[in-house]
Parts: sequence; structure tokens; C-alpha cells
Amino acid sequence: MSVRETWATRIGFILVATGSAVGLGNIWRFPFLTAESGGAAFLIAYLILIVSVGLPLILAEFVIGRRTKRNVVGAFDELGRSNWKIVGGIGALAGFVILSYYSVVGGWVIQYIIASITGAYTSDPAAYFETASVGTNAVVFDALFMGFVAGIVALGIRNGLERAAKFMVPSVVVLLIVLSVYGATLDGSGAGYAFYLSPDPATLVSDAIGLLPDAAGQAFFTLSLGMGVMITYASYLGEDRSLLNDSLLILVVDTFIALLAGLAIFPFLFAEGIDPGTGGPGTVFVALGTAFAELPAGQLVGTVFYIALFMAALTSAFSILEVIVAYVTETFGFERKPATVGIAGVIFLIGIPTALDINVLNAYDVLANQVLLIGGGLLLAIFVGWFFAGEALEEFTTGSDGLEGLGTVWIWLLRIPITVLLLYVLYNGVLATTEAVTAVL
Ligand code: TRP
Repeated sequence: MSVRETWATRIGFILVATGSAVGLGNIWRFPFLTAESGGAAFLIAYLILIVSVGLPLILAEFVIGRRTKRNVVGAFDELGRSNWKIVGGIGALAGFVILSYYSVVGGWVIQYIIASITGAYTSDPAAYFETASVGTNAVVFDALFMGFVAGIVALGIRNGLERAAKFMVPSVVVLLIVLSVYGATLDGSGAGYAFYLSPDPATLVSDAIGLLPDAAGQAFFTLSLGMGVMITYASYLGEDRSLLNDSLLILVVDTFIALLAGLAIFPFLFAEGIDPGTGGPGTVFVALGTAFAELPAGQLVGTVFYIALFMAALTSAFSILEVIVAYVTETFGFERKPATVGIAGVIFLIGIPTALDINVLNAYDVLANQVLLIGGGLLLAIFVGWFFAGEALEEFTTGSDGLEGLGTVWIWLLRIPITVLLLYVLYNGVLATTEAVTAVL
């Protein structure tokens, strides 16, 4: 086999990992989840979990990846723990499911870029969403989005992923800052911010505790945890980096972008007196489409917004494909280009039902996020906490001296609190999946 590629630069690695984290989860899921779940109370629960669960799990994935320099399944062979390959298997399976519908939503975004330019949704945003989101259009643009994803992954680590992320991640930040500054100038901005973040001081703490499971799901999804993206990405690293610093940076930027997205979106909606609704993919597109139809320079603002969303979604989508491509090329010895095209084709086929029925899309989403990712993360926490702690600590302190104490805290977090919490979240996820599948049948 040819020599395994590595990232060209450290900043390249950070941007690629951040690009995976920053996606649809930040720009539509986070703002609406926060707004619906009590604003500031949710934010507090989320921040606690990002640090206490997100950070330990990113680190768990990073140490496995950097130590083994192998793909998500092969890593466990490399460690001589072949029984645990099931973790990688769940990860790859989750990847097939997630990318199959993620690229359908990516296809909607492409349609909305075009429609913002032409003004196609301005007369009837709800009707436009109906035609864009389900049926032929959805399938065609799903294929187009998947084509972009596969095109980048086919080019490889440096020329594809790293180069794309170096341009796209900073662009997303800049565009969202521009949009939120524009939002701040609108009349409804105060009401928008209040809806987004206002706490109810009397119940703040008890609310935050009740919101922990939801916040845990969001923390997982937004950080791309539980399916081995961070294992795969860290496997292309050299030895000289502090994994803790990189993780913290990714976490901070990801949270910053999620907050920023809400600061842009809610003033748009409140300026036009639009009910933010109950969330979910459809509502976001319809509500925002309605706002862009009315706002001053709305078509331009809409175009900028959907371009930012497109780039954010693309850098996340290619991280998912990379996990599977790395596994298949390294395990079966296929060349990267044909493997990428073949896998992307299979994922496209799996996704077609979600492009034809939004209930199916929802069922895929719940299954992947609340069962597969959580299950993968749970096993990973148990593995690193109980069966790999010594080596994990050694790897953790490589490149960051003097962190032994912190490392021990990390291992104990994985061993008990995170394991217990994830069991609980998984239990809820199984119930939610049953419900979502019943809704389809
Ligand atoms: N984190 C991305 C988002 O917020 C989604 C994502 C990309 C993802 N890769 C992942 C989620 C792997 C879970 C696992 O949109």
C-alpha cells in the first residue's frame, strides 16, 4: 500500500476537525433547540456537557487515532483489541445512515442558494419548501451535493479535505459575523435576542438539569462524536501536538459559531414578525424563507446565508465519507478514487427514501443520532476508561507535559459519569427511535 498521507499543517488539521464539527447542527439545530428549550437554561446545560462529556470524548477519539494511525476499525486491530472492532463497525454504519440524509438536506441548501438568487421562494415560501424538499428535486440535488462531497474526498487528505476546509471554515465564520451584524441593525433584534437566550431566573437551575439529555444529544452531534471522525482525522497527525489544546480550540469555535447563528437568525424572524415555530428542518427553511422574502436586501442576505450553510454542511459531510473511505481503502486495498465514488453511490441509494418522505428522514436522524452515535460513544468511553486507560494517558500527555492530574480526571469522567449518562441517553434514544419508526409505518 502507498504511504499513508498526513495533514500538511497543524492549522489544517484544526480547521478540518472544526469543519466537521461546524455544520447543519450549529446553524439550524442549535439555535432552534436552544430557543425552544428555555434559552439560557439550555445554553448552561449545553456548556456543562460540552466540557464534561464532549471534551473527554473528543480526546478519547484523538488518542486512539493518533496512537494507531489507522482507520476507525483497523485502529482496534492495531491496538491488539480486535473484539472492540465493533465500535468501529457501529461508527461506519452510523456514517452510512447520517450521510445519506445529511446530503439530502445539503441538496435543499443548494436549491435555496439558487432560489435566493432567482427569488423562487418569495411568493410562497411554504409551497416552495414542499417542492424542494421531497421528490424529484430533492433526489437530484441530493446527488449533486453528494457529488461535491465525493469530489473533495477523492482528492485526498491534503489536496481535498485540508484545502477545502482552509477556505471554507474561515468563510463561514466571516459570513455569519456579517449576517449577525446585519441582524443587529434590524428593528426586531431585541425581541429576537430575548426569545433566543432569555432565562427565567426562578427556574434556571432546575430547568438546566432537566435539559441535560437533550443537551447531551446536541453536544454529540455538533462535535461529530461517536462514529470515529476524530479517530480518523487524528490518525493523519504527527506526534508533536497537544491534543488538549486542539480539542479546546475546536470546541470553542464550534460553540461560537452555534451562538452566532442564533444571533443572526432570530432578529431576521422577529423583524418580520414571523413565529419561529417548533423547529425541525422544514420550519427553519420555511420561516427563514419568509423572512428573506420581506427583509431589506432579503434576497442578497438569503443568498449569503445559504452559501454559509452550504459550506458548513459540506465540510461536515466530507468528514463522514472520509471515515468510511479510509476504512475501505485500508482494509481492502482499493484505490481512493474508485472507492470514494462507489461508497458515495451506495450512500446516495440508501438516502433516496429520505428524499421521498420527510418522516423517513426524521427516522434516520433519530436512529443515527440517538442510538448509533450514543451507542458508539458509550462503548468508546468504556473502552478508553476501563481497557485502554494506561496507554490513553500516555498518549494524552505526549506533547502536553504536566497534565497527568488532568488526565486522571479525564479517565474517571469516562469511567463512571459519562458511561451512566450515555446509558440513560441511549435508553431514551431507543424509545424515540421506536416512535419515529412507527410514524413511518
Ligand atoms: N457535526 C456536524 C454538524 O454539526 C454533523 C456531523 C458531521 C456529524 N460528522 C459527524 C455528526 C459525525 C455525528 C458524527 O452538523
